[in-house]
Amino acid sequence: MEIFRTPAEIQAYALSAKRRGKTISLIPTMGYLHAGHASLIDIARQRADIVIVSIFVNPTQFGPNEDLDAYPRDFEHDRTLCEDHKVDAVYAPAPDSMYADDASTWVEETVLSRPLCGASRPIHFRGVTTVVAKLFNLTLPDYAVFGRKDAQQLLVIRRMVRDLNFPIEIIAAPLVRDEDGLALSSRNRYLSAEERKRALVLSRSLRAGRRTIEGGGLETIPTVIELMKKEIEAAGGRVDYVEALDTGSLTAPNADTTELLLAVAAYFGTTRLIDNQFIQVKS
Ligand code: PAF
Repeated sequence: MEIFRTPAEIQAYALSAKRRGKTISLIPTMGYLHAGHASLIDIARQRADIVIVSIFVNPTQFGPNEDLDAYPRDFEHDRTLCEDHKVDAVYAPAPDSMYADDASTWVEETVLSRPLCGASRPIHFRGVTTVVAKLFNLTLPDYAVFGRKDAQQLLVIRRMVRDLNFPIEIIAAPLVRDEDGLALSSRNRYLSAEERKRALVLSRSLRAGRRTIEGGGLETIPTVIELMKKEIEAAGGRVDYVEALDTGSLTAPNADTTELLLAVAAYFGTTRLIDNQFIQVKS
């Protein structure tokens, strides 16, 4: 497995692979890899000749009071996980090599990035789309794999790829949960044992909400949302949002809606967790 530290190196590697007729899969990550990332790598492996994992804690997607400095990092652990999963190349740039000091160009999606996490993290998705566009230009992938855990991110990236004609297939990988139901996230390590137990209300209430909407249709949404908020607060969480939106537009569902995103963000202690369920709507 090769490790590259600068944009020029990884781009030369990707260009040489493309010239040899190889296909490339990219898994963009911020490191501190877990079984969820491993599942993305395994999916990527099935598609392409070459699998590249990028590991970069991207400063432009963190707000001023967010956890950029505290974000967990463990390169040796990440390297081992990548080696174990037969990754061909890791791109782990030094922070100052990714952005010029006077960088002044952004890639911004302006509709799907506004609700949900975009409402409480206003610059977040602009940072994500900008860095992902850069990673696409550096690694020249045919496929890029994103987890459904970051559902809004997945939808925003798909929109960016469509709107800017990137010749890349975006693959949505299933959300991976711990045995107790907690969605895997690098941020779970911030939780105390007590907070972790309390946070199980997220997956539990989402499952129940999904069953209710599947059984009773769109009319049940307001009740489901109220109930979920109450349950999360009763478990000691502080709700950021609970919403059920049309996955095509990330607006309120209507008679044409075929798929819903039931999504939640809540704080347990100081840790903000997100989770979701995609729900097919019967016509
Ligand atoms: O999902 C993440 O880990 C990040 O948002 C991503 C896609 C690697 C961009 O920094």
